[in-house]
Amino acid sequence: MNFLELLDGVEISAQSGNPEITGIEYDSRRVKPGNVFVAMRGESSDGNRFIEQAISVGAVAVVTDGDLIPSNVAWAKVPHGRRALAALSANFYGRPAEKLAITGITGTNGKSTTAFLLESILQAAGRKTSLVGTIEYHVAGKVLPAPHTTPEPLELQKLFQDALESGASEVVMEVSSHALVQQRTFGIPFDVAVFTNLTRDHLDYHKTMDEYFAAKRILFARTVSGSPRVAVLNTDDESGRQLLDFCKEQGTKVITYGLTKGDFHATNVDVSLRSTSFDLVTPHKTMAVKSPLIGRVNVYNILGASAAAWSRDCNAEAIRAGIGDLACVPGRFERVDCGQPFTVVVDYAHTDDALRNLTSLAREFVKPANGRVITVFGCGGDRDRNKRPLMGEAAGKGSDFVVLTSDNPRSEDPLAIINDAVVGLQRSGTKYKIEPDRRAAIHLALSETRRGDIVLIAGKGHERMQTLRTETIPFDDRYVAAEALRELGYESAAESWA
Ligand SMILES: Nc1ncnc2c1ncn2[C@@H]1O[C@H](COP(=O)(O)OP(=O)(O)OP(=O)(O)O)[C@@H](O)[C@H]1O
Ligand SMILES: [Mg+2]
Repeated sequence: MNFLELLDGVEISAQSGNPEITGIEYDSRRVKPGNVFVAMRGESSDGNRFIEQAISVGAVAVVTDGDLIPSNVAWAKVPHGRRALAALSANFYGRPAEKLAITGITGTNGKSTTAFLLESILQAAGRKTSLVGTIEYHVAGKVLPAPHTTPEPLELQKLFQDALESGASEVVMEVSSHALVQQRTFGIPFDVAVFTNLTRDHLDYHKTMDEYFAAKRILFARTVSGSPRVAVLNTDDESGRQLLDFCKEQGTKVITYGLTKGDFHATNVDVSLRSTSFDLVTPHKTMAVKSPLIGRVNVYNILGASAAAWSRDCNAEAIRAGIGDLACVPGRFERVDCGQPFTVVVDYAHTDDALRNLTSLAREFVKPANGRVITVFGCGGDRDRNKRPLMGEAAGKGSDFVVLTSDNPRSEDPLAIINDAVVGLQRSGTKYKIEPDRRAAIHLALSETRRGDIVLIAGKGHERMQTLRTETIPFDDRYVAAEALRELGYESAAESWA
């Protein structure tokens, strides 16, 4: 493919040269001979500083959003680097997104779970699918690690091409608000766009809730690839109702969902520690559904996924079967069972809202007379400091005992992070202990646990690493909890303790 073919449809303000292109790179260290180097201004660094380096290792063309035009290779000047990267990458891989039905899911909480549910339903309907999200990517029958919830356009287009080549017709992807603002999904023709909810999270990046909402709204807006054919909106959420007006103004077809009202809603909800069942009311029929996923928040996720699946022409039987088939979403209310006479749950909840939901869910199964809710949690370093006391308060209010620990302290002092969280924890008046070492904290919580209690190990979920100031170490809450339980003398997952 030559440079001009690659630039087809890309917004450019000036251009020169037309060599053959062997590939695209936006990181100068990965450039190979014959590549085009896309130099874009990022938040922390500017790719334009590396143009000379890219040329020295073989770049034959440069696409730049800066003012430095190289004199010795072909070039194109573009108004927006990442948008150009998105369009170039799509061209390079043969515009695979246009041949796939892509559902994008955005919102503060529930994206991963909704995505897994939707994939399960699509598979029950006999479709070949690919999934892109926080926990992992599913492409061409393989499960791949996910470095980002939403990858950069180059990796994303490659992933679409691999999915298409393996025979997939559907892609389900989580779209983070970072990705939307950075325009990583620019030009992707979303068929269905799902909005789960909007609560305080990532405010370090977006500064205000209005800005955060504006970021989420990008998924629903009209772009070069049009607006999504269908918008699936949680109208129990204030921002979902705002989006409803926005989508209607644009003429987008809207399907709403909510706990008790909306095109898709639930009646006769029954939540137990083993499953969640309810009658799913759809515009066509009402049917009984049963999911192994635990908790009322998953009623929302099931509703959103069902509405999206319905928009993708899945029938009622596929929806019912797909909901039942998904045994667990990794790290989302995932139980660790070594035959102990109490419940141990690992959950990714890492916001005050998610902690409130998680602890109140546990409370539904544990009454003060027969057990306690014990929560182990920490707050991430180098991220929104304001949410730490809020998380502390949420964990304290929802629990009978809290062990405050570390959760990816990154470059910060773990004790300084704990000090921020403890302010809120103290406001709750709940008993707590501080143990900065997460492994020791989990051991401490489990050794204090009695029959009938629920221990919530919150924050890391499916993650397998802990990022400290000087190193990143292997750390899996599920593994560490199982190890602690074995040390406490519980052995077999087969033993029944219910
Ligand atoms: N619909 C929901 N509403 C509120 N909280 C939810 C909802 N679904 C899940 N949660 C809580 O949030 C946690 C994260 O869920 P999930 O991974 O599905 O969300 P996510 O939006 O993908 O999060 P992230 O932005 O971290 O990728 C769950 O473990 C649960 O505690
Ligand atoms: Mg996610």
